[in-house]
Amino acid sequence: YTDIMTSNFKQPHIVAILVAAGKGERAGGNVPKQWQLLHGKTVLEHSLKSLSSSCQTTVVVLNENDLVRWNETGLAADIVVTGGETRDASVRAGLDALADHNPDYVLIHDAARPLVSQTVIANVIAALDHHDGAAPAVPVVDALWTGQDRIVTGTQDRTGLFRAQTPQGFRYAVIRDAHAAHAGTAADDVEVARAAGLTVAIVPGDEDNIKITGPDDLARATRLMEQTMDIR
Ligand code: CTP
Ligand code: MG
Repeated sequence: YTDIMTSNFKQPHIVAILVAAGKGERAGGNVPKQWQLLHGKTVLEHSLKSLSSSCQTTVVVLNENDLVRWNETGLAADIVVTGGETRDASVRAGLDALADHNPDYVLIHDAARPLVSQTVIANVIAALDHHDGAAPAVPVVDALWTGQDRIVTGTQDRTGLFRAQTPQGFRYAVIRDAHAAHAGTAADDVEVARAAGLTVAIVPGDEDNIKITGPDDLARATRLMEQTMDIR
């Protein structure tokens, strides 16, 4: 009975999947947004460092056009695979690459969110002890309009509306099966999980956890990063 305390307590094996196979068409630039520089490091490197400090294993999903770039930057990941035409397909490539590892939890993160905090990651992991899935979000605080031809045509009720972020975390086996059964055009992994009947908890996200999407977002991310550095 000497090890009764430790025998019941097994640290879960947590894997991070970073989806970085997009083309970044809306952001523009000479290279896809995940390869653009933010304070001297690529956006992908910031995202990868943040996730790898909370996860034992890292999977990076790359566009096949970026494999040379990956090799040149000297970043390291446990598994590197090429993605697909859609985000959905890229996530599936990452999940399939883990078949032999069979981890407990998987955190699926947009490489285009380089400002994700350790607090947000910890919120997701903590909720996975009690739910099939967990994802960070922030409540919608602005008024929501409908509009047509630049004229406001109505106001929507924002009660219970959230803006979804990543990492979105799941028990590995259930999200792998959900993605296998619901291949399609889901906006994110929570949509796939819900289509498979899973329960997904909402945990606190962070207003700074932006997804670099448009041409101005890299400059915005730079400003947000500088603010964080000033506090330290
Ligand atoms: N992503 C991916 N594979 C795809 C499409 C997207 O791995 N076929 C990744 C992107 O690299 C990004 C995340 O999913 O980290 C979120 O997607 P999004 O912001 O739409 O990025 P892009 O598709 O690259 O951008 P755009 O839609 O403007 O082309
Ligand atoms: Mg896209």
